[in-house]
Amino acid sequence: MEFFDVVAARRSIRKYRETPVEKEKLASLLEAFRLAPSWKDLQCWRLIMVDTPAEKEKLLAAVPDSNPGKKGIASAPVALILAANPADSGERDGQAYYLVDCGIALQNLVLAACAQGLGTCWMGIFEEGMIKAAFDIPDPWRVVAVTPLGYPDQEPKPRPRKPLSELVFGGAWGRPRQE
Ligand SMILES: Cc1cc2nc3c(=O)[nH]c(=O)nc-3n(C[C@H](O)[C@H](O)[C@H](O)COP(=O)(O)O)c2cc1C
Repeated sequence: MEFFDVVAARRSIRKYRETPVEKEKLASLLEAFRLAPSWKDLQCWRLIMVDTPAEKEKLLAAVPDSNPGKKGIASAPVALILAANPADSGERDGQAYYLVDCGIALQNLVLAACAQGLGTCWMGIFEEGMIKAAFDIPDPWRVVAVTPLGYPDQEPKPRPRKPLSELVFGGAWGRPRQE
């Protein structure tokens, strides 16, 4: 798939087939994660792979039933927990950059997965303390995201996006951009 096709085709997938993820595909998307840029190249992120029924149960217990992504965790062969140490990144005027580092790295993985026919779903709603306790994640590490990973068993329609005219200005705040 061409890069833009991947960006346009990606969806949050919340229902998966049982088909396992091939080792080579898994390796390639973990490499995409590893190659991400970060504040001062400090690479504040770590991933925990969850792929046994017992581990998955522990993760599911930390995701509220109201979270639509929970069904994705339940059905996917693999789930990933993304944790980061804020001290291994930067802060400017109260803006914590470990979240930015994590966003870039996980999105690298998400797009690499999509390019190979695999689905993911960024998830930010979970009980952080329960995940930390269940997976032995020490302080001061923070759990930033969780995602299922596997072959999609649904084809969600694209969700609406704001028009570019609302998102991009020309030269000053609120000024329409000349094309
Ligand atoms: C930071 C972040 C947190 C999210 N948290 C959740 C979540 O907890 N559960 C869920 O089902 N989807 C979650 N999503 C997925 C969004 O709902 C989804 O990206 C959005 O509705 C657009 O749909 P699309 O990804 O299919 O384009 C999250 C997405 C992002 C970027």
